Formats: sequence, structure tokens, C-alpha cells
Amino acid sequence: MKHFLDINKTAVDDLRNMIDSAKTIKDARNGRPKGALDDDLPLKDHMVALIFEKPSTRTRVSFDVGVRQMGGQTMVLSGSEMQLGHGETVADTAKVLSRYVDLIMIRTFEEATLLEMAENATVPVINGLTNRTHPCQIMADILTFEEKAGPIAGKKVVWSGDGNNVFASFAHAAGQFGFDLTFTGPQTLDPEQGFIDEARAKGVKVEIERDPVKAVQGADLVVTDTWVSMHDAPSARERRHNQLRGFQVNEELMSHAKEDALFMHCLPAHRNEEATNAVMDGPNSAVFDEAENRLHAQKAIMKWCLQS
Ligand code: CP
Ligand code: NVA
Repeated sequence: MKHFLDINKTAVDDLRNMIDSAKTIKDARNGRPKGALDDDLPLKDHMVALIFEKPSTRTRVSFDVGVRQMGGQTMVLSGSEMQLGHGETVADTAKVLSRYVDLIMIRTFEEATLLEMAENATVPVINGLTNRTHPCQIMADILTFEEKAGPIAGKKVVWSGDGNNVFASFAHAAGQFGFDLTFTGPQTLDPEQGFIDEARAKGVKVEIERDPVKAVQGADLVVTDTWVSMHDAPSARERRHNQLRGFQVNEELMSHAKEDALFMHCLPAHRNEEATNAVMDGPNSAVFDEAENRLHAQKAIMKWCLQS
């Protein structure tokens, strides 16, 4: 079964093929109406379940549109309206859904839910974000970087802010795609050490630098994300803001990166908190290209999942 659970669990050659395939899929649609079918229809006669235990705009719409463009049909399910994990075990839901659908995408809280789904489903399962990782996002980000700035291997990516789930998938990608990664943020919000150790073991440089100005020197890409993720307690908001204020990505900070350094944010953004409007809407911002590329990258991921 070809699940897409995380970037570090997917073979390097497969990841590279997915990025290249995403580019081909994107180019083939150039100028075509968004509702028109692709020429290649790998999801023809396929039914896809899209399960959300958390809110979503990009993941929900890009998966739904992508499936339809590839000839398939979708059903979007909210976790709270299903029996998932409360009315029955996740394993039982996985077994039942596998009798109805050909592919499952799930956005959930605990990684354990994703893993139990994958262990028990007899159809491919795709990780649409957990508290720990967000691999589809970073596949879109790699596609976006390479479209604008060429191969990401050997480049320097700097993450400024919370060491969260999106950072974790960047750390997985650093090891698999061979780029260097610097984290800058307060020690209290450091990423899990395991993500850093694993990337380092694959031979890439991963650094922690508390001074954001020093961190971004030589950066080809500067990335941030919301200071309060969907799984974080709302009561932690003020404390997190106080800790993270100094790591805001603004024009001053970007001026210390390479002149042509790109800026990325997975969105949704809290404008003028983690990143200023000037950076979000500036000439080096790739935030809306990232959002578009979710569609193309995920089509390549789904195609890969269904290839025997
Ligand atoms: N970036 C991202 O996953 O956005 P959504 O939460 O809107 O899906
Ligand atoms: N870190 C964010 C990403 C949202 C796409 C969250 O988990 O809420």
C-alpha cells in the first residue's frame, strides 16, 4: 500500500518524481478552465474521502479540485460528524471506508490517528496535516521554490518562529532533498530534537540560531507560519506572541537575507504578526504560488499513491 504519510517515510526517488510530475501536470493545464478535466485521468471511476478534524481552506479545496480534474469524485467528511475515534475505533473506520472509497486523505490532531488509519486501511492514506507534520504543504513549497529559483539541493532555508508541524516537514525535506535548514525562534518553542538529528544524519546542515538577523544571512528562502497553531491552546496565545514577537519576518529582517531570497508562508497568515504585509505582498513573496501549487503537488501525490 502506497501511503503518503510523511516526507521522511517516502523514498527520495519517489519524492523527486512527484515534484517533476507535479510540474508536468501543472504545465499541461496551462490556460485550461479550472473545471475542465485533465488529459490524463488516473482517478477516473475513483472515489476519494477527504476527512477533516480541523478547519481548512487550501487543503480542502485543492484536494477536491485536484481529484475532480483527474476524473474522480470526492466526499468531504468532518471528523466530528463521523464515528471516527469516538463512536468506533479509528481502525474500524479505516476498514469500513476502504470498502467504499479508493483513497483517503485525513487532517487530524494526533499523529496516532493517521497511523492507525494507515495501518488498517486497504487503500492509500494521505496525511493532510497532523499536530506533528504537514508533508503535502512542503511538497508544494519545494515545487514553488524550484519553479522560481532552480534546484533546492544545497540551498539555505531559514525558518523563523514556532518550531511547529510545518517546520517538522521542512526538516524531513531537508534530509530528503539535501538542503540546509536554520531554525530561529525562542528555545521554549524549539522543534523536537529528533527532527533535527534525523536531518543531520542524512548529511545536511541543520542549525539553531537564536538571533534572527544572523540566522537569515545567506538565506535563499525565509519561511514562517502562524504563532498559534490549530492544536495549540488558545490560552497560550499571549505567551506565544510575547515569545515570538522578535522573530517576525519584516522587510528589515529580509534585508539581511540574500537579495533575491524568497519568502514563504503556508497560510492562513495573521498579517502583521508573524509576517508584515510588506513582506507577504512584496516582490519576493511566493505565498499564493505555494497555495496554487498545493493543487498540482497533491495531484502528483495521489497519482503516485494509486500507481502499483
Ligand atoms: N496551508 C494549509 O494547509 O491551509 P489550510 O489550513 O487552509 O488547509
Ligand atoms: N501550523 C499550522 C498550519 C496550518 C496550515 C497549524 O497547524 O495550525
